[in-house]
Amino acid sequence: MTTAGRAPTSPAGAGAPSGRVADGREECSRPSTGWPVLGARRELRAWATRELAAAGCVSAPAEADWLLEEAPGEDALRAMVARRVTGEPLQYVIGWAPFGRLRLGVGPGVFVPRPETEGLADRAAGHLRSASEPRVGVDVCAGSGAIACFLAAEVPGARVLATELDPGALAWAAGNAERYGVELLAGDLDAPLPAELAGRVDVLCANVPYVPSGAIATLPTDVRDHEPLLALDGGPDGLDVLRRLAPRAGHWLAPGGWLLCEIGEDQADAAAALLTAAGLAEVAVHPDLAGRDRVLEGRRP
Ligand SMILES: C[S@@+](CC[C@H](N)C(=O)[O-])C[C@H]1O[C@@H](n2cnc3c(N)ncnc32)[C@H](O)[C@@H]1O
Repeated sequence: MTTAGRAPTSPAGAGAPSGRVADGREECSRPSTGWPVLGARRELRAWATRELAAAGCVSAPAEADWLLEEAPGEDALRAMVARRVTGEPLQYVIGWAPFGRLRLGVGPGVFVPRPETEGLADRAAGHLRSASEPRVGVDVCAGSGAIACFLAAEVPGARVLATELDPGALAWAAGNAERYGVELLAGDLDAPLPAELAGRVDVLCANVPYVPSGAIATLPTDVRDHEPLLALDGGPDGLDVLRRLAPRAGHWLAPGGWLLCEIGEDQADAAAALLTAAGLAEVAVHPDLAGRDRVLEGRRP
């Protein structure tokens, strides 16, 4: 259980559990019964920290705090720690993941939104805000719907659509999309988008699967063994899905509209070449929150 690899799976640093939330972050309400007195609670925290550390959890004290914060009582806490020590992502165990100021429902079957994707979402929201009305944003390969929900929350009044192929992910995305007013469509990449949006999309966001098939085995076990392979595997060089999507972007984008993609940090040149070959202009790579080249964008002339 580590947090290395494609993305960290611990939300520590990207948000905080309810009760210690940053300004504007949404709160979860939960019952406060089922807990022993304070001293016993302290012992439970120490126990949870030991269990998590023994299982190889690199942020055991912080995760113990999260679990204590989220568990409605001692029995639930023990069950949650048991799930986490088997390597289940912390976000699956607590049932939500922070993304910007949003709280998104997640669990087994859906990709956990990563803090580094917030840079892409933020950039896309900026482009969408700058577009003239009516504003349209699309998120293909939506997973939990993180990017789409972010756009809907940050750019009120914009029409935001999301597509996703995996029924397991769609099940989680449905609740998030309903909550934030996103139109969720099932299907392959851009195929489910309504024909009337051709040439009218201001931002097209795509955090597609981009891990090279041969690198899947090297991912941290909590990612490899628990998150859906469809969310990770991008084919031999990791660019199979982007290779299919890039030539379709110009069909949907409005003149001046942007395609934004998340990429692996060693994919910038090859991925940028795909956008250029697709006729996009102003192709550029931008760093994520950790300073790595992870956001690629191009604009329809
Ligand atoms: C890396 S995850 C990103 C999820 C989400 N956008 C995020 O940033 O958290 C990629 C997602 O693409 C979905 N996916 C893979 N192939 C797809 C396809 N051909 N059409 C639509 N979605 C696809 C996977 O099921 C997965 O949910």
